[in-house]
Amino acid sequence: MKINDLIVAELARLEESKTFKYETALESAQAGVVKVKKKDVVMLASNNYLGMANHPLVKKAAIDGIKQYGYGVASVRFICGTQTIHLELEKRISKFVGAEDTILFSSCFAANEGFFASITNEKLGLDHYKDVIYSDRLNHASIIDGQRLCRPETTDKKIYNHADMAHLERLLEEDRDKNYRLRIVATDGVFSMEGDLAPLHRLVEICRKHDAMLFVDDSHAIGVCGTSGRGTPEEFGVLGRVDVLTGTLGKAIGGASGGYISGSKELISYLRQKSRPYTFSNSLPPPIVLACIASFDLLSKDKSIVKRLQTNTAYFRREIKNLGFTILDGTHPIVPVMLGEASIAQDMSAALLKEGVYIKGLWFPVVPKGEARLRAQISAALTEKDLDRALEAFKKVGKKMNVI
Ligand SMILES: Cc1ncc(COP(=O)(O)O)c(C=O)c1O
Repeated sequence: MKINDLIVAELARLEESKTFKYETALESAQAGVVKVKKKDVVMLASNNYLGMANHPLVKKAAIDGIKQYGYGVASVRFICGTQTIHLELEKRISKFVGAEDTILFSSCFAANEGFFASITNEKLGLDHYKDVIYSDRLNHASIIDGQRLCRPETTDKKIYNHADMAHLERLLEEDRDKNYRLRIVATDGVFSMEGDLAPLHRLVEICRKHDAMLFVDDSHAIGVCGTSGRGTPEEFGVLGRVDVLTGTLGKAIGGASGGYISGSKELISYLRQKSRPYTFSNSLPPPIVLACIASFDLLSKDKSIVKRLQTNTAYFRREIKNLGFTILDGTHPIVPVMLGEASIAQDMSAALLKEGVYIKGLWFPVVPKGEARLRAQISAALTEKDLDRALEAFKKVGKKMNVI
């Protein structure tokens, strides 16, 4: 069989499982209400948690960025791709998350890929060594792929059950007498399929006790969790106590692209020398850099934005339950509405779009079999009227499909 025939067969299988069946292009900017097929629909599927993607001041900063610093920098950071604004954004992020220093990447995926290999694959003066990584079972693909780049001869990889601190402690305890050079515990701050938070206060404690380095990917938490949006460390009262904090600039912070790693001065200086996606990939473009700085400015000055997101989230979580839907309880704007069968999630997503709500379903293999769901994501850009319109559509479709 030729490779193309294999691809055609696999595509047919994927289409059968409807992985991308309801892909629908937006005809407008990303916002609380978007245009799809010429109709206004309430957006419940984006990571635009704070509404920064279409915020006038963020857009203005991006335009100013082009005018003042150009469209692109046509270089990697270490050759001639560092503008003063890149350094300023790195400082802003450090201050916001309470870290000594920060390094920018083209995405958080790149940041996560860049971290693990640059640490574990380097001898750092030792001829014989072995490191170990303990990873939450539900960690994001970029954390998993980052670990795939670690050489097996120098890195042991262990998986602990999702958010199961007793299991993690057991694994660390079992390895207590092994002569590992470095122990790393890696977790998402917020898990994107469930909307639950890693217990960071416990993780900080456990890592201190076992002399392990704590790595947290706060992509769904930056701008979202904690009273001022500083992320899961703020939420759990451990700001500045996470050794390695990564995140994206492609969700709450403007929604364009970019990622970062924050940590100690020494770690960040080391990553600037050794992290391959940093060294060998282009710098973030100026409009994105200045728009991100504007987002952080807005977040720092106007506490009402995060508050609005949290109020909207609490309102939607309460009302969708009042309608009779089953959700995974929590506080995060990711609200999984549990439906069970994949076909119900698929049909309901399509029916809701017809009723003016844009929401996506998740099903096996993205989530376990029988746990298909619609994943609502709430935003500060939504008004109460938008939320009520969405809830009304849920009620109508839910009743029609005998889900409630
Ligand atoms: C937890 C987590 N980490 C990393 C990423 C990747 O971020 P980026 O889009 O900046 O590569 C995502 C995006 O989906 C994510 O949810």
